[in-house]
Amino acid sequence: MQDKINELQESIQQKVSKIANLTDLETMRVQLLGKKGEITQLLKSLGTLSKEERPAAGQLVNKLRVFAETQISTIEQKLSKEKLAQDLQQENIDVTMPGRRRLIGHLHPLTLVLNEMQDLFIGMGFTIADGPEIETDYYNFEALNIPANHPVKDEQDTFYTDEGFVLRTQTSGVQIRVMEQNPVPPIRIIAPGTVYRSDDWDATHAPNFHQIEGLVVDQNVTMADLKGILILFAKKILGENIKTRFRPSFFPFTEPSAEMDINCFVCQDTVNENCPVCKGSGWVELLGCGMVHPKVLQGCNIDPQKYSGYAFGMGIDRIVMQRYNITDIRLLYENDMQFLTQF
Ligand code: DAH
Repeated sequence: MQDKINELQESIQQKVSKIANLTDLETMRVQLLGKKGEITQLLKSLGTLSKEERPAAGQLVNKLRVFAETQISTIEQKLSKEKLAQDLQQENIDVTMPGRRRLIGHLHPLTLVLNEMQDLFIGMGFTIADGPEIETDYYNFEALNIPANHPVKDEQDTFYTDEGFVLRTQTSGVQIRVMEQNPVPPIRIIAPGTVYRSDDWDATHAPNFHQIEGLVVDQNVTMADLKGILILFAKKILGENIKTRFRPSFFPFTEPSAEMDINCFVCQDTVNENCPVCKGSGWVELLGCGMVHPKVLQGCNIDPQKYSGYAFGMGIDRIVMQRYNITDIRLLYENDMQFLTQF
């Protein structure tokens, strides 16, 4: 026993002096003092000795254990200090290095054009009104003279909740909210916002898109005022050379109703039969409009004998596409940096 202990002590001393890093030190600690370590084995073997031999041998093994532990912890302290110094050296910060540039975002083309449109209408005396995207059937359809089972509802299919709410299919409901809140003309508002329809994605359709609604109610308002404002709008936003035309149309909440077209931005002067945007007609539909239906005014407690009004609603996405020559609406929703950084 004595010999074995002397031998071990000597080997510990030798090994410890050669250890150069904390990993090797830990390996050595396990070899000596771990569950199956040499010293642990020695301690366990004491049980096999006779009663007389045991106390003396026990003392010797314990001394060896304390020796090993002290050696290891001394070396550990020394190595830790060295490692810390080394780490500090390596992580030295060079304050003279140039900083890392942060990418700064910018406004989405939809927002850019919307801001411009808002500025234009505000300049003409309009204020901005707002309404909820989760609407009631009443504001989205009923109050706009679109009763249940009206065929127009087919074109504007949408998402319904069990509680009777709909994701609004048009911003026209804001007209009703505005007139209900303050049924005292003159009224002169625009209402921009997101609308939803259960349309599939293609180059000109998206299940959610954006509209801007306009409503003017006052005494002696005529269709001429409506046309004047919309032609001015088209020229200011899409360029002085834009061509416009009005076609008779139907909307349940206006009478008479019309649609305004602009000349196709893809075809320009040479109308192309295969044009994906105008399909060869040379014209692109831009908005719906008309004189507010007397029934709608009445429903909001505005006297149609005394007042008249006009309204219009247009897709902002279409205008953005026209403006920047974008032939696929999906580009506006894909968040592709290569596309977005062009604006
Ligand atoms: N809300 C209609 C649509 O989404 C567009 C529209 C047509 C709005 C005529 C109007 C209007 O205010 O007078 O198709």
